[in-house]
Amino acid sequence: MIIAVDGPAASGKGTLAAGLARHYGLPHLDTGLLYRAVGLAVADKADDPGFESAAIAAAQALDAGHLDDLAALTAAETGVLASKVAVIAEVRAALFDFQRNFATGPDGAVLDGRDIGTRICPDADVKLFIQADSKARMERRARQLEARGVAVDRYALFHQIEERDARDMLNPHGGFYQAEDAHLLDTTHFGIEAALRAAIAIVEKAM
Ligand code: C5P
Repeated sequence: MIIAVDGPAASGKGTLAAGLARHYGLPHLDTGLLYRAVGLAVADKADDPGFESAAIAAAQALDAGHLDDLAALTAAETGVLASKVAVIAEVRAALFDFQRNFATGPDGAVLDGRDIGTRICPDADVKLFIQADSKARMERRARQLEARGVAVDRYALFHQIEERDARDMLNPHGGFYQAEDAHLLDTTHFGIEAALRAAIAIVEKAM
């Protein structure tokens, strides 16, 4: 069984995908981490003319070992860098096989990202599109960071999320839209447990 979970930044898709993977005993891939790892690899070249070619080379050289430094990968600034490398078609192409191979493993998988239901796994058995309003998303991300001891400037974080949403929505190579056959789940007024129950109910009904 392949479950595709898409949605904007901090919508809760990662937590829900991890919860679904646990519930069904499936491996889980947070595909945002791949873009984040590429962004991090070229962080010091952000303003260079060679940014694009460096990002393509980093994407082509990416392996699972680059996904270990979770603290650096999940930093808010890394998310902005990720959205900058994600607009490069060759970067997306270089990351395609990694994601596709993960999805087509023997047990199936849960993948979360932006284009799983539209581009990576258009054949997924169940597709979920997770939404939540941007203030709720900012507040959740702020609490996640604070729980890790990171000091948070909520105003700056809100703008980082909006900047990322705008770039993601305009990404011509992205496929960042709700697949026609995806089930919409708005988590604005849900806690984690209630959202996971709702997601499981959608999966059960779809199977
Ligand atoms: O999901 P997360 O917020 O960690 O993703 C970071 C960035 O990586 C997104 O803002 C988006 O630009 C990019 N991304 C993507 N395609 C995916 C997952 C993430 O372009 N499947």
